[in-house]
Amino acid sequence: MSTILSPGDVKLRDGRSVDFANLDIAATAPCLRVVADAVAELLPFYGSVHRGAGALSERCTREYEQARETVADFLGARDGDTVVFTRNTTDALNLLARVVPEGAAVLTFDAEHHANLLPWKKTVHLDAPRSPQEAVAALEDALRRERCGLVSVTAASNVTGEVWPVTALADVAHRFGARLAVDAAQLAPHAPVDLTALGADYVAFSGHKVYAPFGAGVLAGRADWLDAAEPYLAGGGASAHVDDDAGVRWATGPARHEAGTPNLLGAVAIAAACRELAGADHPAERALVARLRAGLAELPHVEELRLFGPEAQRVGIVSFAVLGEDPGELATRLGRDHGIGVRTGLFCAHPLTRRLLAEATARLDPSAQAPAQAVRASFGLGTTQAHIDRLLAALR
Ligand code: ALA
Repeated sequence: MSTILSPGDVKLRDGRSVDFANLDIAATAPCLRVVADAVAELLPFYGSVHRGAGALSERCTREYEQARETVADFLGARDGDTVVFTRNTTDALNLLARVVPEGAAVLTFDAEHHANLLPWKKTVHLDAPRSPQEAVAALEDALRRERCGLVSVTAASNVTGEVWPVTALADVAHRFGARLAVDAAQLAPHAPVDLTALGADYVAFSGHKVYAPFGAGVLAGRADWLDAAEPYLAGGGASAHVDDDAGVRWATGPARHEAGTPNLLGAVAIAAACRELAGADHPAERALVARLRAGLAELPHVEELRLFGPEAQRVGIVSFAVLGEDPGELATRLGRDHGIGVRTGLFCAHPLTRRLLAEATARLDPSAQAPAQAVRASFGLGTTQAHIDRLLAALR
């Protein structure tokens, strides 16, 4: 696995310097060196994609379409799947919301990031389940009662890091004639996300979370809905032919939803990250998750947030409640006094985080008031045991 670009040492308030412990990777991951190299290599040839002639345009068009193929391979795309480059996961799921056939309901759980909660027009919401098994049973029960066209679930929670039973949920959805979409923003950096293996119909993820921070994301999956829907943006590239009176015949395939000059560097960056992450296993990360959780469990004023049981499978994301501290001030002190970057807040998953904060507080001290915000440590490539130990020492 290639290295990531890191800022090196940062200066602390007391004048010391330490290497920065970036524990906010779930929000925005640093850049892989191979990604930066792929972008730098292309920059001298940067030119027009799909709308020019000459050496630059030929190369850029080829690289853009090769990037699409690399992403398709990474995602185990099937015949009949399309890969659309978007801005990020939010953009990808908003695009999907636009192509769901008119009148079809979309089912989500109340445990989702806002990107997978807010874009849908006609929705069926289920309570956040307490285990992967309960998620599957609740979906089956709901689909017996309600006809839905699409079920959209996270593959791994951006709040708890818990991994959702996507394959089993896809089986249930398909039995009831619904499709399944996966918000893989938080799984893709940590584990394979394969449409064929998961049995999912659509997958969305972001470049800036897979160490490819150049402003692109992906929606991949069944082409029929994408080809039947109105273009996401009306404009050049999406239009195959425009009459003198502005009557339009729209393109099919990815071009239909990629109007305007595409983000070539973003696509090339994602492809480079996909090549690097393909098939990668992350045993060191699992050990860090276990170390952090064990350390947090020993702190009397700290309690982790969890939806499923303590043994549930997780990626490198651990959020926690800290009693008796202002979360914002705590994060500032972690940054300025210890060289640690974390995120505090409700993590764009307000209903879930508020509920889990209240539950975590009650487990620690039933008479205490829950903090307004949680603290989240998230990690991946470049995170070391020393970073985790520094966080635990600082909290202690
Ligand atoms: N969705 C990103 C996060 O969880 C921004 O932090």
